[in-house]
Amino acid sequence: MSNIHDEIKEIFFSHEEIVEASKKIAEIIDQDYKDCEKDPVLVCTLKGGLPFSAELIKHINRHIIIDFIDVASYHGGTESTGKLILRKDVTMDLHGRDVIVVEDIVDTGKTIKHILGHLKERGVRSVEVAALVDKPEARLVDVKAKYVGVISPKEFLVGFGLDYAERYRNLPYIGILKEEMYS
Ligand code: IMP
Ligand code: MG
Repeated sequence: MSNIHDEIKEIFFSHEEIVEASKKIAEIIDQDYKDCEKDPVLVCTLKGGLPFSAELIKHINRHIIIDFIDVASYHGGTESTGKLILRKDVTMDLHGRDVIVVEDIVDTGKTIKHILGHLKERGVRSVEVAALVDKPEARLVDVKAKYVGVISPKEFLVGFGLDYAERYRNLPYIGILKEEMYS
């Protein structure tokens, strides 16, 4: 059996750094939502947002509610076509609620823009984005994540939710794959 850690060329964001970044974001969320009467709803994006959501919620010291959404982008070859489909919607009524969407990464911004539009249609009171990784140089649509763990250059990353062909999501850190893993 192969060891997935041997397939990583370089660690970009260590587990310790992820935990630290999550603690800092949680502290700001506690502050920003301190006057919120109804519990804020953290919407975890499947599948990539799962590890970051799990880390982040541990450090939030107020009541929150968790829900899930799954939006898939159709791929024409290796490039995203920008067409999105809602595979799984949130289950709770978000009308009048303050929502934080928790994402693994904001790249072109198309996925998060689609999710934000969808949640606004459902009558949320407010909606913000928490992203573990932000790639602002790759942005094609105008969206902004209010809470960001780390800024990344236009490098392809794996781990802590981020996948390559559905693999590597279980790495406890974010890394860069060895070139031979792409062939
Ligand atoms: P966007 O719609 O272009 O912002 O892309 C969002 C989705 O693309 C993320 O949720 C990821 O699934 C995927 N993605 C973008 N960049 C990376 C990366 O560096 N590694 C793994 N997945 C990525
Ligand atoms: Mg993804």
